[in-house]
Amino acid sequence: MPAVSPTPPDLRVPSSDTSTGFGHAKLILLGEHAVVYGQPALAAGIAAGVRCHVNPGQGNIRAPAWQMDVQVGDGAMVSQAVERLCERLGVPAKELDFWLEAEIPARAGLGSSAAMAVAIGQAVAARTGALPADVLAAATAAETVFHATPSGIDTAAALRGGVGRFDRATGWQPLPLHQPLDLCVGVSKQVRQTSDLVTGVARLCERVPVARRLIETLGQVACAGMEALASGDVEALAQEFNLAHGLLCGLGVSTRELDELVRAARTAGALGAKLTGAGGGGAVIALAQDRGEDVLK
Ligand code: MEV
Repeated sequence: MPAVSPTPPDLRVPSSDTSTGFGHAKLILLGEHAVVYGQPALAAGIAAGVRCHVNPGQGNIRAPAWQMDVQVGDGAMVSQAVERLCERLGVPAKELDFWLEAEIPARAGLGSSAAMAVAIGQAVAARTGALPADVLAAATAAETVFHATPSGIDTAAALRGGVGRFDRATGWQPLPLHQPLDLCVGVSKQVRQTSDLVTGVARLCERVPVARRLIETLGQVACAGMEALASGDVEALAQEFNLAHGLLCGLGVSTRELDELVRAARTAGALGAKLTGAGGGGAVIALAQDRGEDVLK
């Protein structure tokens, strides 16, 4: 008799045993790449992100919005990340099912893997009582599957939300926002692997040591951006965006499409625009203030 595969459980149906967690998508406002080298960065965890529902199960991991349907133990990168995360939180991943509702595109510079890891970590923590610091450590360990040597900024923003200063030594420090920042996000069609971009910058710094100065300058630009934010000077912050984009171009992480998006945003009236995240594709952000609709067009 042919083997009959069991009907997959409908992971969407919540039960009294469902636990839920959420991870924010992140926008790096200033300091990407430099943050890997210990420089400070300015980032935001935005309202959109990834929600995860966890039930007792058999290790199914599904995210319909990303056409993702994998299983603990199948060797897929997401499965490995979930296994590592659950191991750190002391629960067997193969005894749980994970249903992910993603509000953001994957691999677009918006921290989808960190948002996913934090959402899963929070949902598991709701079952085990793990503390936020444990969730952060477990999510950052999961991120190493995708990004080899993550600085931790993506998972910190995904967990904390709001605007914050991050560096590797002191972690995330929330920053007050004195006035709303009207930021537009443009997602390019190019998908990219963060670890390749980080490796590319490391190679450049080895071959051309003066590139390290660009890294330090990116850190200084991030600090200047934080001062501008603190004093409510949006135009100065926008200037720091423009400077940062030039420096990131110098590090070789921009692309023609990202440059065109940045130029289009500025032409449409944005005060400043830059790539956000690892580059090589992914997304740009523009500080549009009252020109948001024109910039989005
Ligand atoms: C990726 O979102 C940000 C990078 O700075 C890498 C990292 O911080 O791990 C490019």
